[in-house]
Amino acid sequence: MNFKRLGNTGVLVPEIGLGTWNYKGGVKPLRAGIELGALLIDTAEGYYTEDIVGEAVLPFRDEVIIATKVSGRNLAHDSVLRSCETSLRKLRTDCIDLYQIHWPNPVYPIDKTMSAIEKLVDRGCVSYVGVSNFSVEQIEEAQHYFPNYPIVSNQVLYNLNSRDIEKDLLPYCCDNNITVMAYTPLDFGRLCRLDSGVLSIIAAETGKTEAQVALNWCVCRENVIAIPKADSVAKTVENCGASGWRLSAEQLRRLDKAF
Ligand SMILES: NC(=O)c1ccc[n+]([C@@H]2O[C@H](COP(=O)([O-])OP(=O)(O)OC[C@H]3O[C@@H](n4cnc5c(N)ncnc54)[C@H](OP(=O)(O)O)[C@@H]3O)[C@@H](O)[C@H]2O)c1
Repeated sequence: MNFKRLGNTGVLVPEIGLGTWNYKGGVKPLRAGIELGALLIDTAEGYYTEDIVGEAVLPFRDEVIIATKVSGRNLAHDSVLRSCETSLRKLRTDCIDLYQIHWPNPVYPIDKTMSAIEKLVDRGCVSYVGVSNFSVEQIEEAQHYFPNYPIVSNQVLYNLNSRDIEKDLLPYCCDNNITVMAYTPLDFGRLCRLDSGVLSIIAAETGKTEAQVALNWCVCRENVIAIPKADSVAKTVENCGASGWRLSAEQLRRLDKAF
């Protein structure tokens, strides 16, 4: 497994983490991923998977980065504090490694949200802070009201079929040391199917699977890590095999052109 720096911190994160939205696999696939170096697990209060993540991580707590999220509907100051407390309990930990704002929500003034999150960092309940589904302007505004700590990550939709972030957001995050966590990196599994043209040809050339090629394409970008979700041990092992090697520049060009 290759690792990258989380934002501008000294913390290393695996370029393939484990997603848990709609996750129904129990502890085994998560532990299989952890054993292969996928030492970042993404969850959210809104996924109802914090319990299983907490259980899976328990024996490896010091090695694994737990990334969870406060929902967009809970961004009022006191709601953030309450949400964090509940997440800590469900995750069976006393500190969330990466706490992310799941969605921006203009109903709640961002200054109040960020002030609550600052309290959580000051109290030691949260180590690092990230956002999700934020535009460049929204990151800048959130950072403005959170001057004492950096926003280290932005979790956004990114896969071969969804490349909107390449225009502004990805270069901005790269220039500002913000890790991009690519969600839905397999396009809900669509990129894993055979007969998808160039993807299958490159899978055959590299001796990898389509899923591995699609994930490797994501993490070839300098500051991008990917968090595929898989319910089985076999698929989790396959996805972890997307790291530790690189597509060639020529293969990347063919994929970029085809999608
Ligand atoms: N921040 C946000 O707003 C947001 C939004 C969406 C997702 N996310 C995060 O990103 C994670 C991943 O995104 P996602 O779950 O939407 O989609 P995804 O990871 O692109 O795709 C998941 C689907 O692909 C299948 N799959 C996984 N590995 C496979 C493989 N090697 N071969 C064949 N099929 C495979 C899974 O099958 P099975 O699981 O059925 O085995 C599942 O049906 C989420 O779990 C969540 O943590 C965040």
